[in-house]
Amino acid sequence: MNVVKRCIYGISILSLASMNVQCKRDNKTADAPQEVTAAAVTIEKSAYGTTPKGEQVDSYKLTNQKGMEVNIITYGGIISSLKVPNKAGKSEEVVLGFSSLEQYMKPNPYFGALIGRYGNRIAKGKFTLDGKEYSLAINNEPNALHGGPEGFHRVVWTAEEAKAGDSAVLKLKYVSKDMEEGYPGNLTVFVTYTLNNDNSLDVLYEATTDKKTVVNLTQHSYFNLSSDFSKPILDHEITIDADQLVPVAATLIPTGKLTDVTNTPFDFRKAKKVGADIEAKDEQLKNGLGYDHCWVLNNQDKGARFAASAYEATSGRLLEVYTDQPGIQFYSGNFLDGTLPMRAGGTYAHRTGFCLETQHYPDSPNQKDFPTTVLNPGENYKTKTSFKFSVK
Ligand code: GLA
Repeated sequence: MNVVKRCIYGISILSLASMNVQCKRDNKTADAPQEVTAAAVTIEKSAYGTTPKGEQVDSYKLTNQKGMEVNIITYGGIISSLKVPNKAGKSEEVVLGFSSLEQYMKPNPYFGALIGRYGNRIAKGKFTLDGKEYSLAINNEPNALHGGPEGFHRVVWTAEEAKAGDSAVLKLKYVSKDMEEGYPGNLTVFVTYTLNNDNSLDVLYEATTDKKTVVNLTQHSYFNLSSDFSKPILDHEITIDADQLVPVAATLIPTGKLTDVTNTPFDFRKAKKVGADIEAKDEQLKNGLGYDHCWVLNNQDKGARFAASAYEATSGRLLEVYTDQPGIQFYSGNFLDGTLPMRAGGTYAHRTGFCLETQHYPDSPNQKDFPTTVLNPGENYKTKTSFKFSVK
């Protein structure tokens, strides 16, 4: 029975030849029950709900053989659940989330969502390309934030599942129309989530456009590695491989300068607890109401490399983030205020989750000295971030 089920899953995703191999392999494991329990990665699709427009939303559960499980819903490409083993081998929830589609559709601070077309802020919602000014909705006074009110986080993506070796793959697609949310060009976007057997979750972002536009995609999961969502994340030890910060003015728009983190609360080059300096008297902390800043990652010429980590001692969980992006927004959940419901009762209090959003620097379309976020027709936007979990 198991064998049949797994081969059926294989049909949509494997070529005939490789499907035979898969079935043979499964037949073999059927003779050896102990191998069946250590089954290959699995992908389970289920109906999650329907939007008011009548669009069906699905949920995909990806599991590996090492106790990791990720749920992704096609609404916003949201990671609605991420379960990871602690040092005792117990797999538990490590991301903030809700228990229903209805709740995800209510205003919320981007829990687990894919962010686009432009992650982070664009000053006053305006930018110019080839002499033409574009205006975006001001959804974070006085700026545009995270791609607009609907962005990519409140739309339904199409999904294709696959298995590749011992990885479970979910490829999401969304076509953002010319002038949707005020951005020029039809943008075809693919985001591929890959759960690997080494307890890493890769997020591959790809996009092409038919008109010059700006693109800055990211993932907005809120982590609490303790799995105790009533506890703030202040004891998590954070490392960020960055010598410099993108300082911001009071509205969280970059000043345009980059500053050295040495002798500031923003120096995370050696692991430091989130809470160590968060209440220090510091203009940047005041502007961010805590940490809500983009760090200038080191080794930008190296492609994919270590960017940041978070460690929580009671669970022993370690999260390492690898990326090819120039920046990372470390956000300490400063706007969480006890109004959003947890999955099983209670509410998410101040700083009970943190985000590590790999990206280009905020407001890059208006900052001539920052790396460009312009995408031209004929170019391929392609960037990858990996979230790797382990224990120590
Ligand atoms: C990002 C921003 C924050 C905040 C959160 C969502 O991380 O930088 O200022 O808007 O998203 O609340």
